Amino acid sequence: MSTEAIRNTASQAKTKLWVDILIFAAFLITMEPDLSHLPVHEWLSLSMIFGMVVHLLINWDWIVQVSQRFLSKLGGQTRINYILNWLFFIDGTLIMVSGIMISEVAMPALGLNLHIGRGWGELHELSTNVALILLGLHTALHWNWIVTTINRYLIQPVLKLFIPESKKDSLA
Ligand code: HEM
Ligand code: HEM
Repeated sequence: MSTEAIRNTASQAKTKLWVDILIFAAFLITMEPDLSHLPVHEWLSLSMIFGMVVHLLINWDWIVQVSQRFLSKLGGQTRINYILNWLFFIDGTLIMVSGIMISEVAMPALGLNLHIGRGWGELHELSTNVALILLGLHTALHWNWIVTTINRYLIQPVLKLFIPESKKDSLA
């Protein structure tokens, strides 16, 4: 079973694309807490939990099908994808838990003052570095889908706005 084995309708593909663009942008902003400032860093990354839940729910059919077939017949790339997705899930959980433990803005605002040792900060830094590598691999494995979908639903519709005009010109 290939990664693309679950076919999407146009509206499903568009929804996936916009959710992916949003979580990607949020991830980039959260990777630079010094630039975005701590309140933005904390609240934006906490809201990414919602984005990730949507990302996983949209791909739920794939998760269920591959989980059921993991021990039997399955293509090599899908197997790698599946293992990487689990590693990403575990790493994402570590980022969130360690972030919450060192929180200086969001948790105190919610009335939780967690007094913790240095270890959580180090875990937060380590797990975010691992996430960068995992996101690179995750992106590489979905590269064909990303290029095809951006071309079909972002670039082509914009180009079509101009093509009729140029056709008219060439006919004139
Ligand atoms: C910034 C973070 C992430 C970005 C930008 C991202 C991007 C993508 C893209 C472009 C796809 C293919 C299109 C789609 O189905 O939406 C995809 C699929 C998928 N992603 Fe992510 N993803 C991210 C994080 C994660 C994490 C943390 C997990 C695991 C918990 C995950 C699990 C999956 C699954 C299960 C699929 C569908 C199956 C597959 O083809 O691998 N993603 N992701
Ligand atoms: C997608 C999720 C997240 C990413 C990618 C991320 C990334 C980062 C990075 C790269 C740093 C700098 C680490 C260093 O060099 O020391 C950092 C620091 C920090 N993060 Fe996160 N983080 C995330 C989630 C969270 C959450 C959920 C919270 C709390 C609610 C949080 C709170 C903090 C705090 C308090 C610092 C220390 C800032 C400082 O003292 O300079 N993070 N994070």
